[in-house]
Amino acid sequence: MSTPPNTDTEAILVRAKALAEEEMARVLADTPGSKALYERAVVHLPLGVGSSFQAGDPYPIYLERGDGTQVWDVDGNQFTDFHGGFGVNLVGHNHPKVVEAITRAARTGTHFAVTTPTTVALAEELCRRFGLEKVRFANSGTEATMDAIRVARAATGRTNVVKMEGSYHGHHDTVMFSVVPNADSMGGRDQPATAPMSTGIPADVARHTLVVPFNDLPAMERMLSEQGDTIACVILEPVMMNIGIVEPAPGYLQGLRDLCDRFGVVLIFDEVKCGASIAAGGAIERYGVQPHLACFAKALFGGTPGAAFGGEAQVMDVIGKGCAQQGTFNGNPLVASAGLATLVDVLTPDAYEHFARIGTRLAQGCQAAIDANGIPAHTVDLGAKGCVSFRPERLTNYRDFLDTKPELFAAAFPWAINRRVFMTPGDEEQWTLSVQHTDADIDRYVEAFTSFCETLAAG
Ligand SMILES: Cc1ncc(COP(=O)(O)O)c(C=O)c1O
Repeated sequence: MSTPPNTDTEAILVRAKALAEEEMARVLADTPGSKALYERAVVHLPLGVGSSFQAGDPYPIYLERGDGTQVWDVDGNQFTDFHGGFGVNLVGHNHPKVVEAITRAARTGTHFAVTTPTTVALAEELCRRFGLEKVRFANSGTEATMDAIRVARAATGRTNVVKMEGSYHGHHDTVMFSVVPNADSMGGRDQPATAPMSTGIPADVARHTLVVPFNDLPAMERMLSEQGDTIACVILEPVMMNIGIVEPAPGYLQGLRDLCDRFGVVLIFDEVKCGASIAAGGAIERYGVQPHLACFAKALFGGTPGAAFGGEAQVMDVIGKGCAQQGTFNGNPLVASAGLATLVDVLTPDAYEHFARIGTRLAQGCQAAIDANGIPAHTVDLGAKGCVSFRPERLTNYRDFLDTKPELFAAAFPWAINRRVFMTPGDEEQWTLSVQHTDADIDRYVEAFTSFCETLAAG
């Protein structure tokens, strides 16, 4: 007979701390090649990585190769990939249709800095899929949100930007505030402070970025009533996906759209993470609300560095009337070719049925383990995206995220790595599923997570 689960949260947290140490020691023992590469990399790369989000403590696991749903690190360890390159790899690795599109582009010219028929075809597909009238290209999510904000400022003649507390929109100055503010710097619940995420940002910039809580229409209405004539745009992730997953309350997104219309403010959906992942038409389709502008990157471009933003013609038409939007690589044929193949040939209606089925299998499997073992956690299931958050109740905004238990995540991550499940190394992230994931891949994750919950409860 199995022992009844120990549902005392304090006991679970104590066990988690011990497990984190044991499991991390195993990770380090298995990754001498990553350690050696880190020691070489850190000589010329700050933190030993190409982007600070890729850093690890004491070093990251360096990957060498991927195929299908599998990835291999520099030590030859093989993992099933649920990291998905931070939400990019809905096509999986080495997908034949994407490889074919990239190869074709490489053979016929990877770059001209001249618009090609492929670029035009991709613009048409983006407009069809997301209900946009006009679109422009960029090279990263950061550029897409930066350009959308400039267009909104040009269209309204106003300067200030409203963002949600706890949201990430890339690394340009205007949006690098209140991303993961700590309790000391975040201000009051109703009037969050504008807290910088980085040094090196001119203090003056903070004056133009205003912060409100997500899922709080009265707070937004107050902000717009008081300062609406200074506000160019409201930018938000329609589903917050950088603190686990926080869904919009029913009516919230439509309420925002109505308020923005009333105050002449441009509503920008940052769909960099949810575009094409939580539904074919992203949050716009899933929640049935059309913003004035929307930003896209990640999953749309088959693993290549593409991005786009677009929306209503009357807003986008400031481009060409004095508002600058440009870039040497914008709409590059290699990226456009990968993007077109991804959207038209891979992310078909069948793909979304597949994501819904395997995503629910994964979320339900994890939730069953949570329930059976009394772990203070819950799962969220949103198409190709989903997550376990270590808090029993669902989150409604950033302040709820501060209630999640970092001790549990700190143990869950090395536990997964040691069972050869490759996950994102941060509790703010989610799993990303690909068209190539099978039931067997999903079951591997569920088995690893179930044994984790059982071990915590048995302690
Ligand atoms: C919602 C959101 N917006 C913007 C970005 C920035 O995208 P990029 O890293 O491509 O610049 C990210 C990156 O994770 C994101 O999650």
